[in-house]
Amino acid sequence: MKTQVVIIGAGPAGMLLCEILSQHGIDCVVLEKNSRAHVLERIRAGVLEQGTVDLLRQYGLGQRMDQEGHVHDGMKIVWAGRESFFIDVKKHLNKQFMAYEQTNIQEDLFLAADRRGAKVITEVANLQLMDLSSNHPHVTFTQNGETSRLDCDYIAGCDGFHGVSRQSIPSELRHEFEKEYPFGWLGILSKTPPLQDIVYANHPRGFALASMRSPSLSRYYIQVPMGSDINEWSDDRFWSEIKSRFPKEMADEMVTGPSIEKSIAPLRSYVCETMRHGQLFLAGDAAHIVPPTGAKGLNLAVSDVFYLSRAFSAFYDQGKTQLLDEYSATALRRVWSSVRISWYLTNLLHRFPGGSDFDQRAQEHELDYLKSSYHAQVALAEQYAGLPFEARNALNT
Ligand code: APR
Ligand code: PHB
Repeated sequence: MKTQVVIIGAGPAGMLLCEILSQHGIDCVVLEKNSRAHVLERIRAGVLEQGTVDLLRQYGLGQRMDQEGHVHDGMKIVWAGRESFFIDVKKHLNKQFMAYEQTNIQEDLFLAADRRGAKVITEVANLQLMDLSSNHPHVTFTQNGETSRLDCDYIAGCDGFHGVSRQSIPSELRHEFEKEYPFGWLGILSKTPPLQDIVYANHPRGFALASMRSPSLSRYYIQVPMGSDINEWSDDRFWSEIKSRFPKEMADEMVTGPSIEKSIAPLRSYVCETMRHGQLFLAGDAAHIVPPTGAKGLNLAVSDVFYLSRAFSAFYDQGKTQLLDEYSATALRRVWSSVRISWYLTNLLHRFPGGSDFDQRAQEHELDYLKSSYHAQVALAEQYAGLPFEARNALNT
């Protein structure tokens, strides 16, 4: 078997890349370890930046999002004992956000692939990447006990944090940056109308977040100690804890109901430099992880895919490799911007176990400064909105 680009992983990064390459007439095959049903089960953050929304629309993937998603203008920050304030991204940058379930994006992408007759092979095992430094790499894998070989020009590693692609880059060529946070997020999804805004709360009992998926579906989170047991969190306990972390008027507005999903996620920042090795290019969680504060993970996967698909198009349309050569550096500029803002918001809004009085005062000062400074709000709005994708009109080579 032979194709132009092998895409490893059918998460949002892999499937979006498949759709864009297919629309540009580039032949590709997606290889996914799990079943489609398994991929569709995962519940993740669902806040799309304007750049993500525009790209999905541009490739004809915005129809359901525009019908079911919920547009909003920014985020509110509340902090025990003080008045809330709003970071108004629409006012400062003329950009908005779309709350839209990531599961739905994943579903929309699979449906688009079906319409196109795209080659998506699921439930593959023992995937190995070979000859990455030659011009003729290939992958081997097994499916139903049978081993296959797929030759290609390039490989896109979109197989998430635990995938094989990144591990195929020799460790001495990888510079890894990592930070773990000493707490997790307990999240629930409930079929209840959300608060009007996305609200982040900093409270002595810990961070809390009120978010949304649609006018009738809410997503809420609370900071919990590392190693917390989900079985100790009944719905009643969750609602009473989250309400205690919000000002009374907001707590009273929260419509409670049974959870339809409940899970605990650890918080971590991670970046792999480089995002390219020979004919292998990493995109999405395969190359970087952000803590969920700010909901940047999916948006970063989308910007990687934008840069990578543009680079493949320049190669297949014009024979130019400049954008492929620049891919890692270009993608990493935006990655670090989102990694930094996610780290900043995590530090600003959580209570760190063992934090000193000094840490506490510094955090309070930062919140007071943000609340009172127009310029600080504009700077946060710009980063929270996500940097624009870098334009590239003329190629030199
Ligand atoms: N072989 C083939 N597929 C694999 C392998 C492997 N060895 N290992 C992992 N995969 C698959 C996973 O099963 C998964 O479906 O790769 C896919 C990776 O998908 P995601 O983990 O969703 O990563 P990505 O597509 O980069 O999506 C970006 O970032 O922060 C998150 O919420 C955000 O889900 C979003 C993600
Ligand atoms: C979410 O809706 O899942 C969400 C929203 C905002 C965040 C993180 C997650 O910062």
